[in-house]
Amino acid sequence: MCGIVGYIGNKKANPILIDGLLALEYRGYDSAGIALIDNGKINVFKEKGRVKNISLNNNMDTATGNVGIAHTRWATHGKPSQENAHPHMDNSKMFAVVHNGIIENYSELREFLKKKGYHFDSETDTEVIPNLIHYYYQDCNNFLEAFNRTLNDLKGSYAILVISPLFEGVYVAKMASPLVIGEGNNENFIASDIPAILSYTKEFYFLNDGEIGYITKQEIKFYNNKLEKIVNEKKVIEWDKNAADKDGFDDYMLKEIYEQPRAIKETLAGRVVLNNSCNFPDLEIDKNYLEKIKRVYIVACGTAMHAGLVGKKAIEQLCNITTIVDVASEFRYNKPIIDDETLCIFISQSGETADTIAALKLAKSNNAKTIAISNVLGSSITREADYVVYTHAGPEIAVASTKAYVSQVATIIGMAIYFAEILDTLDKKEIEKIKTELLDLPSKIDKVLDNTKEIIDIAKNITNETNAFYIGRGNDYNIALEGSLKLKEISYIHSEAYPAGELKHGPIALIENDTYVIGIITNSDICEKTLSNLEEVKTRGAKIVLISNVDIVNEDMIIVNIPQINSILAPIVAIIPLQLLAYYIAKNKGLDVDKPRNLAKSVTVE
Ligand code: F6R
Repeated sequence: MCGIVGYIGNKKANPILIDGLLALEYRGYDSAGIALIDNGKINVFKEKGRVKNISLNNNMDTATGNVGIAHTRWATHGKPSQENAHPHMDNSKMFAVVHNGIIENYSELREFLKKKGYHFDSETDTEVIPNLIHYYYQDCNNFLEAFNRTLNDLKGSYAILVISPLFEGVYVAKMASPLVIGEGNNENFIASDIPAILSYTKEFYFLNDGEIGYITKQEIKFYNNKLEKIVNEKKVIEWDKNAADKDGFDDYMLKEIYEQPRAIKETLAGRVVLNNSCNFPDLEIDKNYLEKIKRVYIVACGTAMHAGLVGKKAIEQLCNITTIVDVASEFRYNKPIIDDETLCIFISQSGETADTIAALKLAKSNNAKTIAISNVLGSSITREADYVVYTHAGPEIAVASTKAYVSQVATIIGMAIYFAEILDTLDKKEIEKIKTELLDLPSKIDKVLDNTKEIIDIAKNITNETNAFYIGRGNDYNIALEGSLKLKEISYIHSEAYPAGELKHGPIALIENDTYVIGIITNSDICEKTLSNLEEVKTRGAKIVLISNVDIVNEDMIIVNIPQINSILAPIVAIIPLQLLAYYIAKNKGLDVDKPRNLAKSVTVE
């Protein structure tokens, strides 16, 4: 969704801002713009479409100014257009603002301002912000106070940057939308996402909800909402700049697929150790508490929710605790049964997903202990939850989640083993066996990645299809769900995932001659049953691709063999060929795999 970049220093701001916006393209957007302070006045350049349009249409090389703010917009209020693109200015052109989030009471504020004589040039909710600042500034002649009064009037979510010839630096504020400040040497950077400015600094400050920051080239100051000065802690990000580059791969998605063995190693490092207890030092959870737990909720969206489904199997099978998985956008309306005997786990790669954060707040208000599993240091969810477990997958840039998924699954399985050790629900030998297999996952994934020819060939056959089905039982169904999501989101082929036994209760009516059905079998106990379901669709004309780690000989099916592994861990291996299948089909169709249509990397609206 929308992205923000800001710069102040001695260099020309324009190339740094463009560079930052390009790094944020993966979030998904439909217009972009920049505002610079140049010779005591604000210059705004904005265009519909791609970031490159700003430079193409505006003779940007001549744009000077060492202070600037920039934005990529993902339309919510008002269509994608140049007028609606950010930055927005007040009527007197004294203040320029970029904003992420949604101002829920903007109509009311717009009416108020109209009555005071202000006019509006866009359909956006954002345009009320610079005009309100102007309105209050006329009254008090003090920017910080005018800004704070404006923020007090706003309902909804925001990350806001303001520049003006009236002051040297950049004012920033946030409420439920991400914002980070990167510290440089005689220059400072601001962004909605760390990767936008990772090539300039690794030292970051995180603004909390309700706080204001004032950033000049030499200073970073913070204020609370009473305008008292406060001190925020500086954090050093370990992500390497190359981690946010394509590194010779055609697309981020392919690079991230190949990074999965390393991502899992990082996730498990120091946490899961053979012949020793698991180690999750950030989780202050003891035996007394775990014994008291009646149920666990795992709440997340999309791929992260699919990781939760695999986590449910692990927690139920290893710890014997009832576990319920819910989609975050439904959780609140399902009247979940939560109290101090409920443990709630929230999974979010970005840590900024609005529905997941809202669900977490509900759980906390009902006295449940909350754990956030996230990939992004300092993200909103990590600041809300009681405990945080980072996945350490490194920056994930492609919209379609791959390495984040496997690291989420590895994290939650690692946690399940940790809980099982504390609860003593599993034989020590069993625990060591599963730990050994968990630590062996990277080499098993490497084996799949070393042999992609078969998948590339299958992808050629499926490229022109309009429908596909993914089926499996138990954890294989969870893999089917994630495989199917990967296919639809990047290749735009309609696909459905079904529990294999459920097909005959309706959806089998859709099977026609040559419909592709992708079966998954990673558990020999249920192999025969899934095979029968595949035979049922085969006799109705379907073409079968089977991803399997069980010895199966069947000439009527294209069988992709993957390494054997405990069925609790199998999704981490079995998802790899399905990610590759979706990737190569999308490539064959000439689609932009990293930035699929209509999607955003970080979904900050409910
Ligand atoms: C699909 C995908 C999405 C995300 C979902 C949650 O490939 O990436 O389904 O998993 O939007 O995002 P996070 O994990 O950032 O909360």
